[in-house]
Amino acid sequence: MKILVTGGAGYIGSHTCVELLEKGYEVVVIDNFDNSSPKSIERVKKITGKPVTLYEGDVRDGALLDKIFTQHKIDWVIHFAGLKAVGESCAKPIEYYNNNLYGTLVLTDHMRKHGCKKIVFSSSATVYGDPEVLPLTEKCKTGGTTNPYGTSKYFQEIMLEDIYKSDNEWTVVLLRYFNPVGAHESGLIGEDPQGIPNNLTPFIAKVAIGALPEVGVFGNDYPTPDGTGVRDYIHVVDLAKGHVAALDKIKNAGVYTYNLGTGVGYSVLDVIKAFNKACGRELPYSIKPRRAGDIAACYADASKAKKELGWEAKLGIDEMCASLWKWQQMNPKGYNG
Ligand code: NAD
Ligand code: UFG
Repeated sequence: MKILVTGGAGYIGSHTCVELLEKGYEVVVIDNFDNSSPKSIERVKKITGKPVTLYEGDVRDGALLDKIFTQHKIDWVIHFAGLKAVGESCAKPIEYYNNNLYGTLVLTDHMRKHGCKKIVFSSSATVYGDPEVLPLTEKCKTGGTTNPYGTSKYFQEIMLEDIYKSDNEWTVVLLRYFNPVGAHESGLIGEDPQGIPNNLTPFIAKVAIGALPEVGVFGNDYPTPDGTGVRDYIHVVDLAKGHVAALDKIKNAGVYTYNLGTGVGYSVLDVIKAFNKACGRELPYSIKPRRAGDIAACYADASKAKKELGWEAKLGIDEMCASLWKWQQMNPKGYNG
């Protein structure tokens, strides 16, 4: 089976390419390298010893999509390509809606044109907004998003559901990721944020390597056990395997929605402690004000994916931190180091 992976050079995409290739799938990648490097695809090939067909370009480029779908008989599309920084999306809503919504429209239009009607979409726990109940099941209310990035994910889910309603030959798999962290055990691929990281674990890793002075903990007065924000961190390799499980299991047309998380919530201080263990020293941190738009706690009920896909996260917080630390040490400046 041949899979078109949009955004396949990115953080989650590159890890998913490895898992797909190791399970015998053929992989074609389209990526404009807006937030990634072609080196990640070289590393994917090195890890797996398998070929990857790479097209440099934009998912909004219909002529390029025509070329790809003509040159390859694509069975499924896994759609990672998009912009993902919450803060930046508030400053650049036009760019975010253009890339994320228009990108998905051009892609699905060309999938239809070429008779490929199976898509796995990278959604996010952010579609649940500020949770009313925890853990979050797939039946929990969606919407109420607080930034253009989150709203774009919510809209994209609705667009894909409408496409299925109009044509029941489509298979639409909406995977709602919780907080993906960590790196491949080889240390060859990982997350490579540009500039100062927005997310917690890459920030901690930069403190550990000495590139940043201390971790800022955004608020310690949340209604959580230690007052700091609680999230469901999931190892990126487990997350990648969730995509392969969806392709392996889902045989019939329809819309399928799954939370991909561990079901366990860790606080910011828990994560710092786990990273201390991984890097062998106490990292400095200080308490800062709450970050605008943050919620207190968010974690998944991931039992539906276990029941229906036979998938569950296997790796814990220690493996997440150890693999991230290995990646950070082997690539102190990311792919450009
Ligand atoms: P990433 O930025 O590392 O990967 C996205 C990739 O898409 C990059 O390689 C980028 O160059 C490419 N890209 C962006 N716009 C494109 C376009 N128009 N055409 C072609 N390529 C394009 O991000 P990631 O963390 O790997 O996230 C992958 C997907 O998962 C995104 O859709 C993201 O919103 C979603 N997601 C991520 C998280 C997270 O915390 N990392 C959580 C939930 C959902
Ligand atoms: N945090 C800090 N200090 C930092 C960075 C983060 O204390 O320097 C805290 C945050 O306040 C939060 C927790 O660490 O309590 C996690 O924050 P992240 O920025 O790592 O992750 P978020 O939960 O805010 O968001 C992430 C992605 C979103 C995605 C969401 C759910 O960035 O794109 O997970 O999937 F939508």
